[in-house]
Amino acid sequence: TRAHVYVTRRLTPAAMTRLSELDAPVVVHPDPERPPTRRELLESVRGAVALVPLLTERVDAELLDAAGEQLRVVANVAVGYDNVDLAETARRGIAVTNTPGVLDEATADLAFGLLLAAARRIVEADRFLRTGRPWAWAPTMFTGLDVSAGATLGIVGLGRIGMAVARRAHAFRMRILATGRRASSPEAADLGVVAATLDEVLERSDVISLHCPLTPQTHHLVGPAELARMKSTALLVNTARGPVVDEAALVDALRSGSIAGAALDVFEDEPQLHPGLRELDNVVIVPHIGSAGAATRDAMGLLAVDNVAAVLAGRPPLTPVEP
Ligand code: GLV
Ligand code: GLV
Repeated sequence: TRAHVYVTRRLTPAAMTRLSELDAPVVVHPDPERPPTRRELLESVRGAVALVPLLTERVDAELLDAAGEQLRVVANVAVGYDNVDLAETARRGIAVTNTPGVLDEATADLAFGLLLAAARRIVEADRFLRTGRPWAWAPTMFTGLDVSAGATLGIVGLGRIGMAVARRAHAFRMRILATGRRASSPEAADLGVVAATLDEVLERSDVISLHCPLTPQTHHLVGPAELARMKSTALLVNTARGPVVDEAALVDALRSGSIAGAALDVFEDEPQLHPGLRELDNVVIVPHIGSAGAATRDAMGLLAVDNVAAVLAGRPPLTPVEP
C-alpha cells in the first residue's frame, strides 16, 4: 500500500477537495467534533508520508517515531508552530510548513474587535441588558475608554499580524507603540508607530495587544511584574498564544483592579480556562477564533495542502518554517 497523508481534522470543503486531488491516499480523522486522542494520533500517523496537523496536536519525538522514516512533511494548519518540535523534525530531515500571510487580516479584525469590546464594555453591557433589569440612559452608565481620542495602543511583537492591527489603530487615530524587529521600519513609521521597549509599552499604553509567537523567550512574557507596570486603566488583548501570559497572575490583576480589563482569544491551558476567569465581568473571552473568517480558513487549509503537494512532487515547500 502507498504511504498516506494523515489529516488530523476535517478541513473546509475547499481544502478537502484539494486534498482529494493529491497524488497519495488521504486519511482524515473521522470525528469532526473532537480532535484525535493521543492514541488515535499515534496509530493513524503510522506509515504516513505527510502529516497535516492542527495547533491542537503536539508533534514531538514520540509522534515522529510512531510515523516512521518515510514521513517527509508536517504541514501545520496555523501560522503558529509552537506545537511542533522543530529540533526533532530537523534531526529527521522532515520539512515543516505553516500558513503565514493568509490570516493576518482576519486575526487583526478579531484583535481590534476585542479591543473595542473591552474598551467600550460591549459584552458586559449586552449581558446586563439580558438580565431584564430596569435601566435608563445615564451619563456614567458603562463608560469606558475613548479609543479614538488619542488612546495609546502598545503592540508587542510587530510582525505581519501586528502591522495589520497597527493599520486599524492608525485609522482610529490611536497613538501606537510597538516592540519587534519591524517597529522601526518605514512601513511602521508611515502608520505613526513609535518603536519602544517592552517596559515603555507596559507603562504608557492604554491597550496592549500581543502578537508575538510563543517561544521559550516569550513564555510568560506578561507575568506579575509586567502586569504591575501597566496602568490601572489599561486593557490587555491576547490573540497570540495563551502561555505568553501568566494566566493566574492575569486573573489576580483583573480581580484586584490592578489593570482594568482584558480580552482573550487564547488561553494558557486550552481548552481549560484558569479558575475564576469565567466569573470576571472585566474580561471578554472567545474560543481561539482569531483566524475564523470563512475564506481565511479556506486559504489556510489550501496552503497546507499545497505545501504537501509540493513536497510530494519533490519541489520545495511554499511556506517552510526555518528551524
Ligand atoms: C492560530 O492560532 C494560528 O496560529 O494560525
Ligand atoms: C446619546 O444617545 C446622545 O444622543 O447623545
